[in-house]
Amino acid sequence: MLRRISAVFLVAAICVRAQTTVPVYGQCGGIGYTGSTVCASGSYCYDQNPYYSQCIPGTTSTSSTSTHSTTTTSSSTTSKSTTTSSTSTTTTSAPTGFVKASGTRFEVNGAQFVPVGTNAYWPALIYQNENIDQAFSDIAATGATVVRTWFFNEVTSASGVYLHLWDGSTATFNTGATGFGAIDTVIAKAKQYGLRVIATLNNNWNAYGGIDVYTTQILGSSGTYHDTFFSNAQVIAAYKEYVQFVVNRYVDEPGILGWELLNEPRCSGSGPLEASPTCNVTTITNWVSELSAYIKSIDSNHLVGLGDEGFFNEPGNSQYVYGGGAGMDFAANLALSSIDFGTFHMYPDSWGYNDNETLWGEQWILDHASAMKTANKPVILEEYGLTSTGTAREAIYQSYWNTIVSSGLTGDLYWQAGSNFTTNANDGYMIFPTDPVYTAYPAHASAVKARG
Ligand SMILES: *[C@@H]1O[C@H](CO)[C@@H](O)[C@H](O)[C@H]1NC(C)=O
Ligand SMILES: *[C@@H]1O[C@H](CO)[C@@H](O)[C@H](O)[C@H]1NC(C)=O
Ligand SMILES: *[C@@H]1O[C@H](CO)[C@@H](O)[C@H](O)[C@H]1NC(C)=O
Repeated sequence: MLRRISAVFLVAAICVRAQTTVPVYGQCGGIGYTGSTVCASGSYCYDQNPYYSQCIPGTTSTSSTSTHSTTTTSSSTTSKSTTTSSTSTTTTSAPTGFVKASGTRFEVNGAQFVPVGTNAYWPALIYQNENIDQAFSDIAATGATVVRTWFFNEVTSASGVYLHLWDGSTATFNTGATGFGAIDTVIAKAKQYGLRVIATLNNNWNAYGGIDVYTTQILGSSGTYHDTFFSNAQVIAAYKEYVQFVVNRYVDEPGILGWELLNEPRCSGSGPLEASPTCNVTTITNWVSELSAYIKSIDSNHLVGLGDEGFFNEPGNSQYVYGGGAGMDFAANLALSSIDFGTFHMYPDSWGYNDNETLWGEQWILDHASAMKTANKPVILEEYGLTSTGTAREAIYQSYWNTIVSSGLTGDLYWQAGSNFTTNANDGYMIFPTDPVYTAYPAHASAVKARG
């Protein structure tokens, strides 16, 4: 079912004949492309992925280097995704059709679609080359159908791969090879290995920018709070501009399973902005309602989820993750008509249950499966991790996996798959191909698929 890149993909982009000149940002190569490969003076042909090469301003004459520094930034660009050219190949198991929700399950092209797999936040942001092939090939070999990844990097000075560059209160989109070109590559590679991407649009935490960048760039840090992001009209409008740009670019892209509004929203962040004294579950649910409805208004193809940790709002429950203190109400957010599926995370160790990982985790899964049935929408455990390693970790995961299957939960994505080269992206929770969890996952993926 899986196919690796073959050398023929590389040949297609370098075939030369009598040619006209391709203007800057025009296509200059890729599978199925038959036009000119000569870029206008002052630009060069950059090989973004097997399906698409583009003329990028600059003087580099080859596409095999990763030192490109010239990128374009334009907030007025509204062009659709260039990755649609990938439909020109018939030699892969690339996903077609858009995944939809049907009761507590997903379906696509009339058949059930079972979400199993993992996270890999880093492919666009840290590595842009053949490493993605290794990682996605390894992930696909575990029976995965989904990989969740970051579609954001907010910066205030251009360097490396970045997507959104801030200058004062004005932000521009990096549409070049070190910007959304890298996202294009991730999507194309995921499709090549038969995976669909859950695209998370920003971060509650400061890693890769995060939402405090919006607030501080637009309003400054004096008198502003972390949750100002959720309530200030100017900041919300700015976030909608980013969301609109990304969603428009990929609105016709079947390789994307769905959008997520934010990774792990809470009233508080990583600092220095603090939570305001009035932030509560209403603050964030109002925002979830507005942003999810906004995406629905511009994209009728893709599902919309939140990306939250699944914290409940049960009055009187003394456990932080059940008591609403984070400003999150899993059931209320899932009940919104513009939210198609629910998400939750599970980190028993960092949440204070390190002496009760198995039982507490099983109950956390059961409680979300119950909320899934009440809402009659799909719910996925889309991140989970333990600080233990080896067979000890695998034994606990087996108990989680059994509970996922028996509870009827829609599916799960563990945090996070590594391959040998990804140690720079290792946040301590990376699971490598030789890990017992990695090697045991295929049987679990099969069990979820067999259950349906
Ligand atoms: C809860 O948040 C809402 C919306 O931001 C706000 O109107 C309300 O005053 C807050 N409630 C409290 C008790 O702070
Ligand atoms: C472990 O978690 C379960 C489920 O939440 C709970 O019922 C049990 O009391 C916990 N045990 C301990 C020792 O905390
Ligand atoms: C890296 O790959 C090699 C073989 O390709 C394997 O023997 C080794 O165990 C791998 N290391 C990790 C950490 O997965």
